[in-house]
Amino acid sequence: MSVKIAIVGAGSGYMPGVIRGLLHRAGDLAGAELAFHDVDAGHLGLMTRLATAMFSARGAGFTVTAHTELKPALDGASYVFTTFRPGGMAARHLDESIPLRHGVVGQETAGPGGFLMACRSVPVLLEIADLADPGAWIVNYTNPTNIVTDAVLRHRPGTRVIGLCDQHVGDTEMWAELLGLPFDGLEADWIGLNHATWAERVRLHGEPLDLPARLADLEIPGGGATPWRDPSRMAELAKALGFLPNSYAKYYFFHDEVVEELRAKGTTRAQDIMAMLPAYYESVAAEAAKPDPDPSRERGGGEHGEFAVDVICALHRDEGRRVIVNTRNNGAVSSLDDDAVVEVPAVVGRGGPVPLTMGPLPAPVRGLTQAIHAYERLAADAAATGDRRTALQALMAHPFIRGKHTAERILDEGLAAHRAHLPQFTP
Ligand code: G6P
Ligand code: MN
Repeated sequence: MSVKIAIVGAGSGYMPGVIRGLLHRAGDLAGAELAFHDVDAGHLGLMTRLATAMFSARGAGFTVTAHTELKPALDGASYVFTTFRPGGMAARHLDESIPLRHGVVGQETAGPGGFLMACRSVPVLLEIADLADPGAWIVNYTNPTNIVTDAVLRHRPGTRVIGLCDQHVGDTEMWAELLGLPFDGLEADWIGLNHATWAERVRLHGEPLDLPARLADLEIPGGGATPWRDPSRMAELAKALGFLPNSYAKYYFFHDEVVEELRAKGTTRAQDIMAMLPAYYESVAAEAAKPDPDPSRERGGGEHGEFAVDVICALHRDEGRRVIVNTRNNGAVSSLDDDAVVEVPAVVGRGGPVPLTMGPLPAPVRGLTQAIHAYERLAADAAATGDRRTALQALMAHPFIRGKHTAERILDEGLAAHRAHLPQFTP
């Protein structure tokens, strides 16, 4: 029997990469029905046309259906791939700008910006958990991926959910460049929490590397920062820590400088993306009309789509593939609670991810990561229940925020600004 895969958020600008990912495993998923869902009928139609054209040009045996209602998209689906952004880029702009007005980093997933996003994402994921077929796997990219995963696991017990983020792929690539190593064959054990992982163990073609020695020799490169790469700060940090930080570490260890930079920049990342999106969607539309489309890789390039489809295949085909995912800790990272959702290497087969035993977090970031976990747990509960006091506690627990009044101001402003998307928080 052929498998049905629902894709929620199929109008996303990241979709061309997901379509490429599906093509790269077309043989393994032959005959699959792909049910595309989006609340934006225009973008949904565009990505449906693009996928249909790309699948037919490459002879992939997929059927594509398009839906603006959730229920028909989810009915009968064994896999529900969630990759939507509730409130879109306009809401992201608020997440990124409100904290900044109070001297706190404004970021899509880290800190209070991520908290506000969680408050919008979690109710939709809980609804999806309610509507999906029993036994279906929710494979989630919607951010903040670990908070969303934790909320579903604890507030809809019995639901099968796995949280994804492909950041470790880009980060490993950045470290390969910085350390002068080939990316191919380089494997790092990234452990911790999503967007707060650390790697003490790195192997090249299976051979352990002497990381402290390599970092001692590393010269700190100048400048060159892009939104997703800040090699100079990363190198400085790694030399101090003696292991590899992931790229979001800069928000914690250079918090005040980053606040200054974000303020000086004048526009948010969301605004920068909104400025490029119309031309991007136009170029995708032009490609979709061609017999063999080759859409832009400007959004969701890299391994984004391949990574997600590989995880779906690992579940579906019982592959026992080693991948880094967000799942219940169950002792894998001994410095975090057993029932925490952690980001760790895991072996993924039909029964879901089995996290590999990784030991403790490195001492210099142990307390920080535990504090982020305490925040995340409160954030998941606040987002699921709409309890204002829990929401305040979440923000007070976050390492970016140093005072109750700052937490209160950001919370009040954020809840008011997002009111239309936060039915769980009654005024
Ligand atoms: C990285 C993160 C994702 C995040 C994305 C945002 O890939 O791992 O979680 O959503 O960056 O990228 P953007 O181009 O939208 O700023
Ligand atoms: Mn991510």
